[in-house]
Amino acid sequence: MEKIIIYATRYGTAKKYANYLAERLNLPLFSIEEITEAQLKGHTVIFISAVYAGSLMHLKDLLKVSDPQQEVQILTVGLTDPENQEKIQEIFNLAQQNANGKRLVFLGHLPGALTYDQLSFLHKTFIKGIHATSKNKSEVSDEVKLLRDVYKSSLDFVDFSRLDQLT
Ligand SMILES: Cc1cc2nc3c(=O)[nH]c(=O)nc-3n(C[C@H](O)[C@H](O)[C@H](O)COP(=O)(O)O)c2cc1C
Repeated sequence: MEKIIIYATRYGTAKKYANYLAERLNLPLFSIEEITEAQLKGHTVIFISAVYAGSLMHLKDLLKVSDPQQEVQILTVGLTDPENQEKIQEIFNLAQQNANGKRLVFLGHLPGALTYDQLSFLHKTFIKGIHATSKNKSEVSDEVKLLRDVYKSSLDFVDFSRLDQLT
């Protein structure tokens, strides 16, 4: 069964990883926004999705058009440290819970990137809020720390070599 790669991105990081993998594996590549049921039919899907507030972007939209038997392999992209197994497991568990019984196969988590200036007004407000409420606290989670630190700044942990094991 031929594989296809589908990505869901807000600011382009998941797309960068998807482009790289599609090129390396010579597989068709689609944005979640353009994919149709007919294009999905009969394919194993590799879904590369950015994580926001613990959830995969557009996972529900993908599962809506996918076949119940179709295998969906997942790669998440986010600021969560890929070595933080507990946190990554939480992201995967939540995705599986939201999958309405459909089969998800988790391939791994890829380190993301964020530039404050490029964020939407809503996301800027969110980051600003985290910064304001956590700046004087010493005991905050690693994710809160990263989101706090990106206030008026930029972080980039993109590492394509993380995909080498799949190519
Ligand atoms: C409002 C907001 C919430 C976020 N929540 C999470 C999160 O829960 N877990 C995580 O790993 N990364 C989180 N991130 C970081 C993004 O997942 C990361 O920047 C990713 O690279 C964005 O991918 P994209 O450029 O493809 O949209 C969040 C970023 C923003 C702006």
